[in-house]
Amino acid sequence: MPYVDLHCHILPGLDDGARTLDSAVRYARQLDREDVLDVATTSHIKRSHFPHIDLHELADRRAELQDAIHAEGLNVTLHPGGELAHEDALELPDRDLQLISQGPKHAPWLLLECPFAGLNEDFDAAVERLTRLGYGLLLAHPERVRGPIDRLRPHTDAGALLQVNVSSLLGSHGPAPQEVAGKLVTNGRAYCLASDTHPGSREETLPLGYAALRRLGVSDVQAFRLTQSNPRFLLREGNPRLALPETEDRANSAR
Ligand SMILES: [Fe+2]
Repeated sequence: MPYVDLHCHILPGLDDGARTLDSAVRYARQLDREDVLDVATTSHIKRSHFPHIDLHELADRRAELQDAIHAEGLNVTLHPGGELAHEDALELPDRDLQLISQGPKHAPWLLLECPFAGLNEDFDAAVERLTRLGYGLLLAHPERVRGPIDRLRPHTDAGALLQVNVSSLLGSHGPAPQEVAGKLVTNGRAYCLASDTHPGSREETLPLGYAALRRLGVSDVQAFRLTQSNPRFLLREGNPRLALPETEDRANSAR
């Protein structure tokens, strides 16, 4: 089963990820070679750092890159997304949040960035607002937060899922994030790994993460879950820890 990467800054010219279309396509070639065939396009949605991103343009930008990838004969499929900063999560209208939501229509979820500076009341408020609006949550790289992450416990108890970076597991951000990342993947708290790749500067792909998991003593089955089946489930079905409302389609398919 191919890998599924739910956090990747591959859309060119928007944030601190890929700078050009050529750079993005070059990275897509690597993804294709390494069997990472489903990739969410998660540019930073963080107006304090990237004020000029127009959320209404994202679909066209994604389509343009997808066309270029197909023109190269590559099998990589791009999916919608965005890495949402908690400050923006507190303010963006729901119609804008929908533009960066991931997963199926009946169970949308958002990739919410855990702030490097530390968890605080504003982050809690962002989680609460997004939950109230009906979104499941995948919390990006909790291991990179400065200070303790106990504050995440009520959110994960309520169904939020944790995503650990491959780069953290490999030690690219120093020993403290590496240690926390290792604990999260070995104690079962992490739901999935993602690359959080910034093509051109940081390019640790999921197969490297798979190998790092195995070196940590994570079983083959669990490493498969963290890099392939769990992210695929999120992409296709949504957050498995949340009760999904029954839609007409679901009701019909159950009959
Ligand atoms: Fe990211």
